[in-house]
Amino acid sequence: MAPPASALLVHHDAIRANAAHFAASTEGRLMAVIKADAFGHGHTEVARIALEEGAAWLGAASIDEALALRTAGLRAPILSWLNPLDADFEAAVTADVDLAVASPTLLGAVSRAAARRGRPARVHLHLDLGMAREGCPREGWSALCELAHELQRQGAVQVVGLMGHLSCADAVGHPQTRVERQRFVNAVLAARRRGLRPGVLHLAATAATVTGEGNGFGLHRIGAGLYGIDPSGTSSALRPALTLTTHVVASREVAAGTGVGYGLDHVAEARTNLALLPLGYADGLPRAASGRAEVLVRGRRRPLVGRFSMDMVVVDTGGERIRPGEPVTVFGPGDAGEPTVAEWAGWAGTIEHELVTRVGARVARVHRVDAPAGRSLGRTA
Ligand SMILES: Cc1ncc(COP(=O)(O)O)c(C=O)c1O
Repeated sequence: MAPPASALLVHHDAIRANAAHFAASTEGRLMAVIKADAFGHGHTEVARIALEEGAAWLGAASIDEALALRTAGLRAPILSWLNPLDADFEAAVTADVDLAVASPTLLGAVSRAAARRGRPARVHLHLDLGMAREGCPREGWSALCELAHELQRQGAVQVVGLMGHLSCADAVGHPQTRVERQRFVNAVLAARRRGLRPGVLHLAATAATVTGEGNGFGLHRIGAGLYGIDPSGTSSALRPALTLTTHVVASREVAAGTGVGYGLDHVAEARTNLALLPLGYADGLPRAASGRAEVLVRGRRRPLVGRFSMDMVVVDTGGERIRPGEPVTVFGPGDAGEPTVAEWAGWAGTIEHELVTRVGARVARVHRVDAPAGRSLGRTA
């Protein structure tokens, strides 16, 4: 069978090194966040690596994501933190999936599901520390704790943890982080006053862990950092774990004045060579990077020219005529001079998270178990 035209190489050694780095440098325990297919890196593979390197917990947004890990045979504690009222809480309880709960209504639904299963649901009460997103509003915290205490007394739930999520931890030293930490401390004290004694407290994700601003609570939920992304921009220890490669499908020499792509936004200033790549915005290349992005061809950076299309982009290779079938690196760790995801994010005016999570389904995922990150550039398995 012919190799796939485009491939997303997942460098396990980079994920392993990142997980080991957090295990060694973090004062508390680690929860490896594997939501969104482990930020596009493959949830089962990442979960296994992270657990081997010292993570104690796994973290998912939906119950479905958590159940996929159970189906894969992973037995570590798993927390699912974002579910609608009609989610399959019974399945979660049956599979020993912990549930974050942010409202009395949701707690009621979870406890009824647990009653139907005849065993308590393990819950983490989730406080909104200030970002008005998925946590319980502060004014509702006491009521949530009281209900949780009552349902715990009845044996319907077990309050395992208390959690929050910092809004501004990527901005080092932001005063809001101190405010939100204090809100969390107050919430823990309030929960204790209502008779709750949860063993697990957690509010830090990657940024607050890297900077240390989220230290002191025992458990750290690490997503981005596992994948080599540091939202705080302060750590040089993390390694990107993806390389996106493709192959030229056609090439041509064009005269000065030739327009390229929809709208003819780009016009060749001089005679040049163009190579066509079978990747477009349907495959995850951000259209907003049109006219700015570069790729690595024959060891040199070359500009992508014209508007990105759904299925294809065009690279200007100057005086070099590239043969169909020649490899191109779209992004990677940067070791061979190829652009990084961070550069792509800059060209597109977005963050690395968005790019790694939206590589399209047409791109083959190739897991590189042994090859050191950066050594496999330009080849597909
Ligand atoms: C509640 C929660 N905890 C932890 C994380 C992981 O954050 P990060 O990827 O910055 O480590 C996320 C991701 O957005 C999240 O929503």
